[in-house]
Amino acid sequence: MKIQSLRGMPDLFPEDLEKWHIFELKLLEIFNSFNTNEIRTPLVEFTELFARSVGNSSDIVNKELYSFLDRNEESICLRPEGSASVIRAVIQKKQEQDKHKLWYQGPMFRYERPQKGRYRQFHQIGVEYLGFEEGTSEYELIAMVLQIHQSLGIQDYTIKINHLGDAQAKEKFCTSLVSFLEPQIEELHEKDQARLKSNPLRVLDSKEKSTQELLKNAPKFQDFISEKSKRFLKDLVNAFKDQCNIQIDQSLVRGLDYYTGIVFEIVSTELGAQDAFLGGGRYDNLSNQLGGKDMHAIGFAIGVERIIELLNVKHTSQPLKVGFIIAGEQIDKKTYKIANDLRSANKSIILDTFLSEGSLKSHLRRANKNNCNFVIIIGDDELKNNQAIWKDLCEDGDQELLSFKELIDKYTNL
Ligand code: HAM
Repeated sequence: MKIQSLRGMPDLFPEDLEKWHIFELKLLEIFNSFNTNEIRTPLVEFTELFARSVGNSSDIVNKELYSFLDRNEESICLRPEGSASVIRAVIQKKQEQDKHKLWYQGPMFRYERPQKGRYRQFHQIGVEYLGFEEGTSEYELIAMVLQIHQSLGIQDYTIKINHLGDAQAKEKFCTSLVSFLEPQIEELHEKDQARLKSNPLRVLDSKEKSTQELLKNAPKFQDFISEKSKRFLKDLVNAFKDQCNIQIDQSLVRGLDYYTGIVFEIVSTELGAQDAFLGGGRYDNLSNQLGGKDMHAIGFAIGVERIIELLNVKHTSQPLKVGFIIAGEQIDKKTYKIANDLRSANKSIILDTFLSEGSLKSHLRRANKNNCNFVIIIGDDELKNNQAIWKDLCEDGDQELLSFKELIDKYTNL
């Protein structure tokens, strides 16, 4: 029996990763230009971290966590997201009073039902700004998101945005929503009846028709948040509405309990059912909830598998590729020295060495298939005379015999 990978945990082969590399390079450029620095936290954390942050009643903790007891009988889990770990790390380093602009990337784990765009191991690239109160940081993060779209050539997207008010406003709204829905609970879809009990705000983003119908007359967030919050949301939307499709969505609450203030999600009609490729918002209370000092926090995370689907960019310039063929009977350590010297002489060229045995013809066929521009051939005779054949694969197959020194010079100046 062959061993398979776990369901919803796909392998990524070189051809799958071409776009990922372009994406990562472009994002690194943008993060650098915003003076945002990388943080790496472990893939495994105590389960308590996510129970206290993302929320015990959220689907992510309640149903989707990969948690298990370790050998010491402690409940640990594979991280389902990155923000809680970043806050935990900053509290642990006693740096809540400083200002941080951080980014991270890596795999996240959620035991969801796999389908297109939804995996059990998926990847996020996220940004967290810590120590900045509501104000310019919201503007800066939306500006960063726009830069990301522009640099990746993504055009079809909508930014949905909402303001959840402070913790008290959120609480009051929640109580009022429950009082409104409870007498009509029978009319809610079955799934939403359960949500109303465990996590009432999630009823708002239900896709069920019967629930949506009921919600038309339900209390609205707008009636519970302060005038200041309403104005802030409006100003933020106005500042960006000429540059992108940005819309206030009062039913947007997001699936993680830690948010207060601005929340946003970006969707694309090109993605099908799993249409959100970025989500984020402010979560000023999380540091306190995790035992840390007061610390403002706002951020977002991109679902890499989803954004890759939308990518509209190619490598602008492909590096030159040279095949290195050892065609002799005898493999000599001198040939490896040459290959190493060539790589040191010009690092911008890809030197593709053909390592297995085979005829010169089959090596040349491989070099063509691998899109080599040139090949270097070293057979027994050439090796004896410290020479190599340089062959052009792009044009009419011109070739010349070069001394090792001439070869290095040619390669250096290619
Ligand atoms: P989230 O909305 O749960 O937010 O996840 C962010 C993004 O990760 C989603 O928009 C989606 O693109 C992607 N994603 C989530 N689950 C899956 C899955 N099963 N398969 C594929 N992609 C998925 C967070 O995780 C927050 N930590 C974001 C944040 C950072 N808020 C503030 N700072």
